Order: sequence, then C-alpha cells, then structure tokens
Amino acid sequence: MEHGYHVAIVGATGAVGLELLSILEERKFPVAQLSLLASKRSAGRRLVFAGEGFTVQELAESSFQGVHFALFSVSSSISKAFGPIAARAGAVVIDDSSAFRMDPDVPLVVTEVNPHALHRHRGLVAHPNCSTIPLVMVLHPVHRWARVKRIVVATYQSVSGAGARAMQELDQQTRAWMTDEAGEASVFPHPIAFNCLPHIDAFGELGYTGEEWKMVRETQKILEDDSIRMSTTTVRVPVFRCHSEVVNIETERQITAQEVRQLLATAPGVAVIDDPEKNQYPMPLTVAGRDEVFVGRIRQDPSHDRAINLWLVSDNLRKGAALNMVQIMELLSAGGGR
Ligand SMILES: NC(=O)c1ccc[n+]([C@@H]2O[C@H](COP(=O)([O-])OP(=O)(O)OC[C@H]3O[C@@H](n4cnc5c(N)ncnc54)[C@H](OP(=O)(O)O)[C@@H]3O)[C@@H](O)[C@H]2O)c1
Repeated sequence: MEHGYHVAIVGATGAVGLELLSILEERKFPVAQLSLLASKRSAGRRLVFAGEGFTVQELAESSFQGVHFALFSVSSSISKAFGPIAARAGAVVIDDSSAFRMDPDVPLVVTEVNPHALHRHRGLVAHPNCSTIPLVMVLHPVHRWARVKRIVVATYQSVSGAGARAMQELDQQTRAWMTDEAGEASVFPHPIAFNCLPHIDAFGELGYTGEEWKMVRETQKILEDDSIRMSTTTVRVPVFRCHSEVVNIETERQITAQEVRQLLATAPGVAVIDDPEKNQYPMPLTVAGRDEVFVGRIRQDPSHDRAINLWLVSDNLRKGAALNMVQIMELLSAGGGR
C-alpha cells in the first residue's frame, strides 16, 4: 500500500468498525496507511485488512499524526473527547455517534440526500442514526415531489444496532431458551430473544426515548425543513441485522402509491420490492449484507387522501453505518468539502 490516504478507525473492533474494514476493502478505497484504534482491552489484537494483519492500538491523543481520515465509531463521550483532537491534528473526522449530529456547525450527511452539506465542514462530519438514514433516503424524493408534512414511524430495530455485545446477548439467550436454561440480560433491560422491547435509549421528553427524538431532529436537519412534523416509536426486535420501519407519510400535494413506487424505483440507493401477490417484500434475512434501502408494501392510507403507507428494510451496519461513512470519505477525497 503506497499511494493513498492514511485512514484511522476508532472503534475498529466493534460491530461497525469491523464492517468498516470489509467495506473499505470491498470498495477499494485507496488506503496507504491504516491505524486501528480501540480501548486498552483490545490493544494488541490482530485484525486483517486486504490480506495483511494489523495490530490494534490503544486510542491516545497522539494517535492522529499524519491521519487524513479518522472514522470514529465509538460512544459519543469518546467521540466528544477525541474527535476535536483528531481534527486539530489535521484529520477529517467522520463520526457515527450522536456527539456532533445536532451541532449547527457540523454537517450531518447522507450521501444520496444532502452531499452538498459536506462543503461547509470544518474538520468534522457527523453521520446520522442508523434508523434516520433509510428513512430520509425514502422521504427525500417524496418530499421534493409532493412536500412531506407529517410522518408517523414505527421501527423494528435489530440487535446489531446496539453493538457487538448485544449480538452475543441475542445469540446466548436464544441458545439458552432452546435448552431450557436461563439467559442473562445485560445489554438490554429485558430478555431480547423471542421478545420485542419498545425501548431504545433513555426515556425523556413527553415519554419519548432519545432514539425517537434523534430520528425527528436528524430528519429535519438532513431534509433542511424544520416544519416536517413527526412522531416515532422505536422498538428492538430479536433480529441480528437490518432495521425495518413502518412509515406513514402525509404530503401537502396528493400523490398516489404508484407515483411513490416510481419515484423510489429511480431514487439513488433505494430499491423497490413490492409484489404482494407473489409474497415479494423486503425482509431482514434477504436485505442483510445489501447496500440499498429496500421498500415494499407501498399503498394508499385508506384513512387519509394525502397519505401513503410503506415498509422499509435496511442493513444498519452497512448503509446505516459503515457504508455511508465510507461514501462520505469517497466524496471528500474526490473534492467534496475542504
Ligand atoms: N451498530 C450500528 O448499527 C450503528 C449504526 C450507526 C451508528 N452507530 C454508532 O456507532 C458507535 C459504535 O457502535 P458499535 O455498534 O460498533 O458498538 P460496539 O460494537 O460496542 O463497538 C464499540 C467500539 O468502541 C471501542 N471502545 C470502547 N471503549 C473505548 C475506549 N475507551 N477507547 C477507545 N475505544 C473504545 C470498542 O473497543 P474494545 O474492543 O476495546 O472494547 C469497540 O471497538 C456508537 O456510537 C453507535 O451509536 C452504530
């Protein structure tokens, strides 16, 4: 590896960090030097990138000398502490925690929706929540065509959205259930195997959770329209990978289900699978590992003449996280931004 960029992955051993490694390799991003960073616990661990072994190092203030792009996938407190240090060292930071998302000086970017926002970055770019990304990718073309007034969303979010330990917890509880043993709940407040938890993040204002408010505020910021009204219920389900969402979209102008189907069929990064007679609709098992946001069950809301219902599924570790981060880096390296 000689020509290219020095890329640092902060949180390289996590669910998103490992996905970042495989997407960087898959998309042949020109990596000349790679720094893999995590906590003291993982320092010394070996990870493979492009057939070569790399040793994970403990994250430190001195980790960012000569780094062009620092991909942060750690908790927001670590991002807040180390993101500005990396930016001051000259790296462009792409951060997928909630640390900087609502900072008016930090662009919050989904590459198919608002790439223009990258031009005003000052060393920090925020990456949205994994449920917000597929939602805005579907709303964006509808908003441009018929102006979205109000959205009601219910999510069905996989355990990988809560990280590597959450995936282990579902695996262990499922095995324990099969053998009549007691499975322990530590990441989630209740057993997640064979269960649904209407609770993601801490409860807050009006009884909505942090995750629910993130979706509302991030959607308004990315679509650059604070007038969009939105109410969300986020639910954790016993699925390993892929977030699904039921979305009711009320528009200002009337739009038919067929028009929405056509708009989405040509929207970048979106794919429509919508043939109910043949039992064809997107599902986590068929969408896992795919890059696109898949949409189906597109239909008129019979209770409202300017509202549409649809179902979407997206791989939260790919477009919901690592893929969008790498796509941001690709745009920046091609000259979008400073
Ligand atoms: N999972 C998703 O679908 C998704 C989507 C969008 C955004 N995000 C955001 O991405 C971030 C990471 O999520 P994840 O799902 O990848 O979590 P994860 O699997 O729990 O991984 C967390 C990573 O953070 C590292 N870490 C923990 N404490 C650290 C410290 N003190 N110093 C340096 N590194 C430390 C861990 O390293 P060790 O191995 O050393 O513990 C690990 O690499 C979160 O902010 C999350 O909200 C996740």
